[in-house]
Parts: sequence; C-alpha cells; structure tokens
Amino acid sequence: MSATARGAEMLVVRDLHVSYGTIRAVQGVSLSISAGITALVGANGAGKSSLVKAIAGLALPRSGAIALGDGTSIIRTPSHRRVRDLGIVLVPEGRGVLAAMTVRENLEFGLRVGRYRVARDLAATDAGPRIDTLLDLFPQLKDRLRSEARLLSGGEQQMLSLARALACAPSILLIDEPSLGLSPAMVVSLFEAIGDVAARDGIGLLLIEQDTRAAMRLADYTYVMERGEIALEGESAEVAASTALRAAYLGAGPAEEGESA
Ligand SMILES: Nc1ncnc2c1ncn2[C@@H]1O[C@H](COP(=O)(O)OP(=O)(O)OP(=O)(O)O)[C@@H](O)[C@H]1O
Ligand SMILES: [Mg+2]
Repeated sequence: MSATARGAEMLVVRDLHVSYGTIRAVQGVSLSISAGITALVGANGAGKSSLVKAIAGLALPRSGAIALGDGTSIIRTPSHRRVRDLGIVLVPEGRGVLAAMTVRENLEFGLRVGRYRVARDLAATDAGPRIDTLLDLFPQLKDRLRSEARLLSGGEQQMLSLARALACAPSILLIDEPSLGLSPAMVVSLFEAIGDVAARDGIGLLLIEQDTRAAMRLADYTYVMERGEIALEGESAEVAASTALRAAYLGAGPAEEGESA
C-alpha cells in the first residue's frame, strides 16, 4: 500500500502515562488513529499492549488524555461502553476466543455486545446474514461453525478472534500481535483479511505487530515505541527507510531495568 496523507483523526491520545506500581509502562505517549491502518511497533516490553489496553479501557492511565476525533474525552468511559457505544474494540494479545463456545456462538457473542445491539436491536433471527458476511472475510471458519473454539488451530483462533471483534461493528479496531505463533502462510492470509477489513467501512485500525516490515507494508502511518515512549513516527515508507529505526532495534536488548527516577 502506498503512503497517503492521513484522514481526519478518529481517536487522539495525548501525553498518556500508564504504570503498574513502580513500573512505568507508558511514559508520555501521544498518538492518533485515522481511517485505514496505523502500525505500532517496538521491542518486547516497550509498552505497546499497555497503550492499547488504556485505549480500550482495560488499563487505567495515571495521567494524560484519550479523546475521540471531535475532542470528546473517553477517559472515564468504562470499557464495555467503549465497545458498545463508541465501537472501540480490542483484539487482545494471545487470542481472545471463548474456548468452550462454538465458533458460531463466539460470533453471536460479538454481535450481542457490539454496536449492532444498540443501533439495530438485533434479534436472534438477524444473526445469520451478519455471520455470513463475516465468514466471507474468513472462509477458513465456514466449515468450523459448530466446533468449539478451543479445537481450532492457533491461526484459526486468531481469525475467529478478529471475526468476533468485527461482529462488534467497530469504528476503531486495536489488534495486538495477530501473527504471534502463526505459520508464514497463515500470516499472509491473516494480513490479507486485515487489509480487507481496513478497506471496508472506514474503520480506523491500529495494528501492533512484531513483524515490523509486514506491518509497515500494510500501514499508512507507523509509530515506533521504545521503553514507554514514541521513539519515531511518520509515513510508513519514511519510517521503513529510517536509520533511526534500525538504531532503535539494534539498541533494543532484553528489558533494560533501572530507568525510572
Ligand atoms: N499487568 C502488569 N503488571 C505489571 N507489569 C506489567 C503488566 N503488564 C505489563 N507490564 C510491564 O509493563 C511494561 C510494558 O509491557 P507491555 O505488555 O505493554 O509491552 P509490549 O510492548 O506489549 O511487549 P510485547 O511486545 O512483549 O508484547 C513491561 O515492562 C511489562 O513487564
Ligand atoms: Mg504486548
């Protein structure tokens, strides 16, 4: 995908701090999400998951702002209302499927907790066509609708996790390391699905990914996080060409301690 000017901001994070006791996971991050794909990359422990958890309302920021594009603060909005009312949906690290439920039940759950419930008062009989639409994006799941989610392969669970998030009718979709543990072939088809998702419906998608090159190929804009801060940001093509990116990665060893004052 070629680099393009970013559209209107859908979500804006300003000077955000997230801590766990004395551990400072996110230290003054500012970032925005627009329609299309934005990549968030960085070494292990950089604070990427903590940042998206804060956006989803699952980690409490110590300070800073999280607002919609029109400036409305969401910092006090509980996580379930961010999903149901605002369409801010997180696909968590490590596959958030409901293991003992079938594939179909997982998708129906997404339909029930998401925005369709409010917008269209979804009746059980309406679920079929919506599920069919989701399955068009993830044909691998079609034959597995009656299987329990725990019996799917890792890649299929990742697809289901993404499909369930889409069932929530997201406006902003936060995807945390979807390719973790997948075969190269699975990664290709998952990334194709992610590309398709972003092209539909004007969703703003924030993609956290260990495969930095693959993420930057998909994304218009890229943020690089390092030890709780944004070390580098820009159009993906510029970031990909940057020597600072290489420096950031070469400098990124296993968790460096003793940083806090
Ligand atoms: N629940 C928690 N309690 C205490 N410390 C935590 C917790 N979650 C994360 N941390 C710490 O916060 C820092 C940032 O972690 P985070 O999971 O946000 O990083 P990440 O960039 O997502 O890493 P990875 O690429 O390995 O998933 C790390 O030092 C981590 O050990
Ligand atoms: Mg993480």
